[in-house]
Parts: sequence; structure tokens; C-alpha cells
Amino acid sequence: MADGTDQKSSNQMWGGRFASGPSAIMEEINASIGFDKKLYAQDIRGSMAHATMLAEKGIISQEDKEKIVHGLNTILSEIEAGTFEFSRKLEDIHMNIEARLATLIGTAAGRLHTARSRNDQVALDFRLWVKEELQKTEGMLTALIAAFLDRAEENADTVMPGFTHLQTAQPVTFGHHCMAYVEMFGRDRARVRHAIEHLDESPIGAAALAGTGYPIDRHMTAKALGFREPTRNSIDTVSDRDFALEFLSIASICATHLSRLAEEIVIWSTPQFGFIRLSDAFSTGSSIMPQKKNPDAAELVRAKTGRINGSLVALLTVMKGLPLAYSKDMQEDKEQVFDAAESLELAIAAMTGMIRDLEVRKDRMRAAAGSGYSTATDLADWLVREAGLPFRDAHHVTGNAVALAEKKGCDLADLSLEDLQAIHPAITSGVFDVLSVEASVASRTSFGGTAPSEVKKQIAWWRGRN
Ligand code: ARG
Repeated sequence: MADGTDQKSSNQMWGGRFASGPSAIMEEINASIGFDKKLYAQDIRGSMAHATMLAEKGIISQEDKEKIVHGLNTILSEIEAGTFEFSRKLEDIHMNIEARLATLIGTAAGRLHTARSRNDQVALDFRLWVKEELQKTEGMLTALIAAFLDRAEENADTVMPGFTHLQTAQPVTFGHHCMAYVEMFGRDRARVRHAIEHLDESPIGAAALAGTGYPIDRHMTAKALGFREPTRNSIDTVSDRDFALEFLSIASICATHLSRLAEEIVIWSTPQFGFIRLSDAFSTGSSIMPQKKNPDAAELVRAKTGRINGSLVALLTVMKGLPLAYSKDMQEDKEQVFDAAESLELAIAAMTGMIRDLEVRKDRMRAAAGSGYSTATDLADWLVREAGLPFRDAHHVTGNAVALAEKKGCDLADLSLEDLQAIHPAITSGVFDVLSVEASVASRTSFGGTAPSEVKKQIAWWRGRN
């Protein structure tokens, strides 16, 4: 709750027309400094570029610009040293910095806000922050992809059951399964790269919403701040938060991928599946059941998806129906993005660690691959290829063989030739070549298929793409 009511003094930045200050509740609901202080470095960088441009264009003197830049550098060190005093009365990071600048350099500080508004200032700061976060995410996804490529390489011919409906479907290789995640996270990384390109326009100079009459040079500030070009419409510029929504959409899709992987890790590490063992570094014990090793990190990654998706929905809802141009509603953009970014970073890092460390239990995967009649499709394909049956008939004959194996409590490969010939006389001993899971996997050589030779090609393709 607010720290008492102070209605005596009006805001020193905008209080000219106000006789008294805000109520404590007003101050509390209005202030964003509690979270937007995170933008201090971007705010200072933006102000330096703006002041430099103002001086370059003769709008402020070189002398004032020198003072401003010097003061801003002092403030940067103060914030980084933890000695800067943030004040809620000064609302946000922009006014906290400007007020301190005034204390440090006097009247020259008042010239910094020429041809600028907090509306384009916050759009700039936040865009710079999101751009950096996207660049960080790109690097983290590359590390996750690299971890998967290594595991895929080691397991290009490790046979495991492939599933649909989480029921054994056909044998695949663990390398192939790993490469499915490489595809997913590769798409996430492509989305990140596209979003960086998309947001690469500088908002500064849009001013409050209408642009400005001062002879500013927006191309100069855009270049100084590392943007491709300035934005084209000043009204859109101060009301646009697409870059934040795009970040959250990408984060949500990526978190959804991570949650699917997390779910598989949870399932695979159960004693019933036993496909993998998680390292001690990425699991926890139970305080009551000494035998337990829990996949907490995977479970939390799965759960972070809820937060991240929630942030996307929250910001979409904030932006929905907002009239142009800036409305204070938009101040609610930052916490959602900051929280989602922190959650996503943690989730990707935890997953990268788990994938790097996990022990693959090839024997367990191999044993499970052979159960559940996983080579039934191979038998049907053999009947088509070698005995000339139409696929539908072959499917039916195979169904009979599965029913017999089920009755006998054995695998398809354990049925005798006599048993099989009783089901269909065209079957010969050659059929046993395709009933093993290794033969099944090796035969799937279609582009993108599970054959070790294909998986190795996919790995090589991705290795060449970082
Ligand atoms: N703290 C504000 C925000 O985050 C800065 C912009 C304020 N602009 C204004 N016209 N009150 O959106």
C-alpha cells in the first residue's frame, strides 16, 4: 500500500498546472518505476543519442549536450553501483533519470526533453529491451539445438518405439526423435530472427504522437541506436506494441514446445518406461520416499508455459480495443514481457542442461521398441511388395497375425513360419527379415524418414545452418 498521503507538492516534471500532488492511491496505481527501472540502460542510451542529434542539428548547444552526456554517464554508474535512489513520486524510469540529471547538471537537463515525449521515449526503451532479449533468446535456442544435435548424433541408430496416441506405433530411432525437437526449436529460432528484423525501426522522434516542428533527424538517431531505419508513422509509433506481442507469441509457441519435451522427459524417466535417467543435477529427491528421483525441472518447465501463455493473453487483452494513440493502459505491457522473458530463459536453460546430461537407456528403448507389434506395418508392406497383395488385404492379413501373436503371448517375430503360412500361404521365411525392429527402422529411407542414414543427413543439414 502507498506510503501515506501527500497531496502538498505537485509532480516536479509535469505539475505546472496542478495545485496539489496526487493522492497516495493515485501515486501507487500510476507509478511504474518498480518494474520499468529495468529499462535504465536503454533509457540512457536513447537520451544520449537524442541529445547528440539535437546538438548536431543546432537545437541545443554543444556545451549543453556535453553536460547532458556527462550527467547521464554519472547516472549510469550510480544505477550500476546500486547507489541511485529511485523515487516512486517520480513515477517512472524516464522521470527518475531526468530529475537526477537536473540535480547533477542544472538547467541543461531541462533541454534534453526537447522534441521528445515519454510516449516515444518508452516505445524506444522497450523496443531496445525486447530486441536485446530476442537476441539472447536466439543464442539460447542455438545452444539447445546444439545439445539435441549431439544427442541425435550419438543415437542415430538407437531404436526406440515411435508413438501415436502414446501407443506404440512403429519403431523409430532416438536420433530421429531428437531431430524432431531440432525442427521445432529451429522454427522458434527462425521466428525470433524474423521478429528482430520486424521491430528494427526506431520510434524516437515520433514525440507525443504527431511528430515535432523542431528540425530533428530521425535517421541519425535510428542509426546511432542500431536500428535499420526510423518508423514511418508517428501515431502508429507511440501506440504500437506489436513487437511485445510478437515476443510473447514466439515465447508462447516456444514454451509450448518445451512443455511437450518436458512431458516426454517426465514419462521417459518413470520406472515403467525407463528410457532415460536424468542427471542428479537436474532432479530432486523426496523428503519421505528415499527411492524417488523426481523430474522437477521438467515439471517446472512444463508449468512455466502457463505463465508465458498467460502473459500473451494479458497483453493482447490490454491492447484490445485501445484507441490510437498512446494510452496509459500500455504501461501494463512491461511486466508481462519481463516475466515471460525470465521464465522462458530459465526454461530453455534448464532444458538444455537436461538434454546435455541425460543418460539414454538404449537397452530399455530397444526392448520397448519390439513390443506392441511395432513391426506390423512392415509385415503388411512385405505382403504388398513380395506377395502382390493389395495394401487393404495385407492390412487384414497382418491383423490376423497380430491377433494370433496376442493369443500366444509372443511378438510377431516369434510366430513360426507354419503359423504365418496358415494365415496366408504366400508368406515365406523371407518375412523374418522385416519383422525385426532394426530392419524396420533401416528400411524407412524416405526423405525425412527414421532410417539412420536419413537421420545422419538431417543432422548434417542442421550442423551447416547455425
Ligand atoms: N511509464 C509510462 C509507460 O510505461 C511512460 C509513458 C508515459 N506517458 C504519458 N503520456 N503519461 O507507458
